[in-house]
Amino acid sequence: MMRDDMKAILYTKEEVAERVRQMGAQLTADYKGEDPILVGVLRGSFIFMADLVRCIETPLELDFVAASSYGTWAVSTGQVDLRLDLEKDIIGRHVIVVEDILDTGRTLSKLVDELKKRHPASLKLCVLLDKPERRVAQIEADYVGFTVPDEFVVGCGLDFNQKYRQLPYIGILKPSVYE
Ligand code: XMP
Ligand code: MG
Repeated sequence: MMRDDMKAILYTKEEVAERVRQMGAQLTADYKGEDPILVGVLRGSFIFMADLVRCIETPLELDFVAASSYGTWAVSTGQVDLRLDLEKDIIGRHVIVVEDILDTGRTLSKLVDELKKRHPASLKLCVLLDKPERRVAQIEADYVGFTVPDEFVVGCGLDFNQKYRQLPYIGILKPSVYE
């Protein structure tokens, strides 16, 4: 059972849904009439992105990038591999990058630097989770669902070795699973 691999549940399915609903309402208010492009960072953002856009009531477009740091989450090297690029130009557009978690910030700061070179009208960062204790790069999110402690979390799109993404809650993985 996957539940047996969890040390604790940080946020239940209901708590996540309520917070995402609030974030959607905030984005609806902030982007009224702006026709933003939400850029999901694959794969971790897919569940948050799907839930979030259904809570946004102003017109928007969706696009995706795939950026992964080499190695595992614990040994982020700082190199970013953009394996899938945007389909459309973002010049002059309001861009919202959507990601599952802002951790060291290495991946997202490189991605944001790259997207800024393309001259969007604005670029904001929206993350489900923020883990500020491990931050290395100078980057903060504009929209944060929850601030989490320095523990390995899974669920709602977040994985350990590609597993646990489907969990409807945010859980702390037992260290015995990955040690
Ligand atoms: P940073 O900010 O360190 O994040 O560049 C790179 C990627 O690492 C993953 N990450 C996690 N994945 N539980 C996970 O399942 C975690 O606690 C965790 N911390 C970082 C995540 O994919 C992020 O995009
Ligand atoms: Mg990720």
